[in-house]
Amino acid sequence: MISFPANKSVDLAVEWHYSDYPVCSRNIIRIFINGAAMKRMLAPLLICPACLPREQPLELSSVKERDDEIISADLSCRTCRKRYPVRDGIAVLTPDPEAGPAGGQWKYEEQETIDRYLWSHYSDLMKVPDAGDAYAVWASLLAPQSDLAYDAGCAVGRLTFEMSQRSTLAIGCDLSSAFIRTARRLARERRISFSLQLEGNLRETFTFELPGSWRPDRVEFMVADAQALPFAAGTFQQITSLNLVDRVRYPLAHLFDISRAARSRNAFFLFSDPFSWSTANAPEELWLGGLSSGLYSGRGIDNVRALLEGKQKIISPAWRINAQGRVNWRLRSHCNHFEMIRSEYLTAVR
Ligand SMILES: C[S@@+](CC[C@H](N)C(=O)[O-])C[C@H]1O[C@@H](n2cnc3c(N)ncnc32)[C@H](O)[C@@H]1O
Repeated sequence: MISFPANKSVDLAVEWHYSDYPVCSRNIIRIFINGAAMKRMLAPLLICPACLPREQPLELSSVKERDDEIISADLSCRTCRKRYPVRDGIAVLTPDPEAGPAGGQWKYEEQETIDRYLWSHYSDLMKVPDAGDAYAVWASLLAPQSDLAYDAGCAVGRLTFEMSQRSTLAIGCDLSSAFIRTARRLARERRISFSLQLEGNLRETFTFELPGSWRPDRVEFMVADAQALPFAAGTFQQITSLNLVDRVRYPLAHLFDISRAARSRNAFFLFSDPFSWSTANAPEELWLGGLSSGLYSGRGIDNVRALLEGKQKIISPAWRINAQGRVNWRLRSHCNHFEMIRSEYLTAVR
């Protein structure tokens, strides 16, 4: 029987106990502790992100699993020969799994950013002062029911968990492996502690516990690119993309890929973005708004709406927009300093 030291995290406890067990037992200990890992039933649904738009299946090898969860494995494409690892239960399914963070993406790997996002995603549920309600508002816009759901750029997972309340399985994908590790840890342990600057060198600690009714067995988190999702066309009934289109390298490719991954009928899409276009993420010629001339001149929200409505016949079948509005989203720096970001949303069905 394994016991954990009270003041150490589970990950530390693994290291702590390694020396006490013979080599042949170590994997068993690791498997036991890791728990929630990649669901095996997902493997046949995965396709090679590097071969898109061709849909090439991935083959599993070197599998270590427990019950129906894959702890580690290799997923490989017979066509392009690329290999995608599953390590510590996390699948890395970007077109180039060896590549590190590029452009402005590095900041999403830092602990301070993770902690700011944990506060932003869960502060209302922790009932702490100054909490924002943005995720509760976005959750209230979701379709009441779906089977498979996909949260693009999920960060530390709030909306993925919200979607899992309304679907058989919700899959959160993000390019940041640090965010995905954090979201998966929350799913596995049901609680997480983090700290933020209070003032100067003083820190304030927060602890969040998943509400008892939430079902982490209905969520999956993986490292994947929202411009080349490793799922076949028409897989998802419900899709969200929050505060992402202005962060990706090819904003149009992201919208196109969302539409590809969504069912062609009986599908729901929640889109929201502040349109903070920046050349750190995408060159100006690829922005979908904020320009004075060109195909995507004018406001991002108008151009995204027109694209979804099929105006340029890029996105097909077209979506019907059924709501449009704004959500004020809040990130905390220290106890007296907050960033307020107005995110413009559309809900769409087809
Ligand atoms: C501004 S944050 C928004 C996060 C979350 N959707 C929310 O609203 O709280 C942008 C997120 O998109 C992720 N991201 C950026 N480029 C991405 C890509 N190509 N594919 C998937 N995720 C990406 C970042 O790692 C980060 O988590």
